[in-house]
Parts: sequence; structure tokens; C-alpha cells
Amino acid sequence: MEMAFTAQLLLLSSLFLQPVLVLSETNGSIAVGGSLTATAEGNSSSSWLSPSGDFAFGFRPLGNNDLFLLSIWYAKIPDRTIVWYANNKPAVAPAAPLGSTVNLTAHSGLVLTSPQGEELWKSETIVGVVANGVFNDTGNFVLEDDSSKKLWESFKNPTDTILPGQIIETGGSLASRQD
Ligand SMILES: *[C@@H]1O[C@H](CO)[C@@H](O)[C@H](O)[C@H]1NC(C)=O
Ligand SMILES: *[C@@H]1O[C@H](CO)[C@@H](O)[C@H](O)[C@H]1NC(C)=O
Ligand SMILES: *[C@@H]1O[C@H](CO)[C@@H](O)[C@H](O)[C@H]1NC(C)=O
Ligand SMILES: *[C@@H]1O[C@H](CO)[C@@H](O)[C@H](O)[C@H]1NC(C)=O
Repeated sequence: MEMAFTAQLLLLSSLFLQPVLVLSETNGSIAVGGSLTATAEGNSSSSWLSPSGDFAFGFRPLGNNDLFLLSIWYAKIPDRTIVWYANNKPAVAPAAPLGSTVNLTAHSGLVLTSPQGEELWKSETIVGVVANGVFNDTGNFVLEDDSSKKLWESFKNPTDTILPGQIIETGGSLASRQD
């Protein structure tokens, strides 16, 4: 009896929690000048959704230590598995402190900056001028110029699919565990 009641209560409270997790829906197009801020989970200023809501791009908290990972994840499944994260070298990702921003710029593409103004990461090899970002339901984040030429895409800058449990902290950076 009591267990069933508890389960019902959990189900009920998780239903009530749903509206809190509403994120910024996009039509898939993100204008230069757009930005996201690493803030409390579920805050609409910390991620963009693909048009169907299947994928989210933005900040995912890492544990409870006010650090965030700039990443792309499945937004509709409970595990919200990360499929990509910003990385400087293969599998080394900068941990972004609370209040960090990612800005979509014309000349450097995506730029991740700490609250102190330190550049933590940017999308590399931008040749040309970014007109806008496209975040399709394929989960690919693409930077295009004004003739829709792809200048950068997350699919071409892959990171191994990782599980949160595989992330270890190494002096301000994160690395996936190597065996
Ligand atoms: C998508 O939204 C942006 C910003 O709100 C707008 O400028 C653009 O025209 C929209 N694109 C389409 C295809 O609706
Ligand atoms: C979301 O984050 C922004 C920026 O940090 C803050 O101003 C706003 O109050 C937050 N909103 C909610 C609902 O937490
Ligand atoms: C990023 O965008 C935010 C919000 O528009 C702005 O306050 C901040 O100065 C921008 N940061 C950089 C490095 O351009
Ligand atoms: C995004 O999807 C639209 C509509 O399916 C398609 O026309 C466009 O080529 C796609 N863009 C990218 C960058 O994949």
C-alpha cells in the first residue's frame, strides 16, 4: 500500500515538475549575437532546443559544483544522454563555471567565455563570416555563411559519446577516462 502510494506520489510530482523544464524552443535558426548563460538547470537561458525538441544545445551541470559542460544532448529521454561536448583536444573539455556564456559571433563562431572574461573554447577553423547557426533535428549544430555554406559543424568535430559517469575532473579540465 505504502509503496504504491509513494510511487504514485513520485509520478505525480514528476508530472508537476515538467513545466519547470521548459527550454528555449528555436525554429532551428540562431542569429549571430545570440548567447546562452550557464545557469540553473531548466533555465531557458541555458540551452536552445532543436525545432522538434529532440536535441538541446547548451550548458549541462556537472554534479553540484557549479561547473557546466557546453554540450548537445537528447532532450526528450530521461537520461538526456550527451552526444557532443566542446573540446579543445580530443576528449578534453573545459569545465565552464556558473555564469559562463557561449556567444555566436560572426568571426569566431561559437565562443565560450568564463564570467572573468577568459576564453575557454571556440569553434575552430572558421574561414568566412558566420551569418547564423542552424540547429536541426539531426542534432547537428551548424554555422553557415550568408550563402548557407557550412563553415563549422558539430558532426565534423566529434567527441566520443560519453556517459556522465565517465567524466573525470583534471585540474579545471575534464577528460573522458582512458583505459
Ligand atoms: C527563425 O527565427 C529567427 C529569429 O526569431 C527569425 O529571424 C527567422 O526568420 C526564423 N526563420 C524561419 C525559417 O522561420
Ligand atoms: C535564469 O537565469 C538568468 C540569468 O542568470 C536569471 O536572470 C533568471 O532569473 C533565471 N530564471 C530563472 C527562472 O531561474
Ligand atoms: C556574450 O553575450 C552576452 C549577452 O548578450 C554579453 O553580455 C557578453 O558580453 C557576450 N560576451 C562576449 C565575450 O562577447
Ligand atoms: C536543416 O533542415 C532543413 C529542413 O529539413 C534543411 O533544409 C537544411 O538543409 C538543414 N540544414 C542543415 C545545416 O543541415
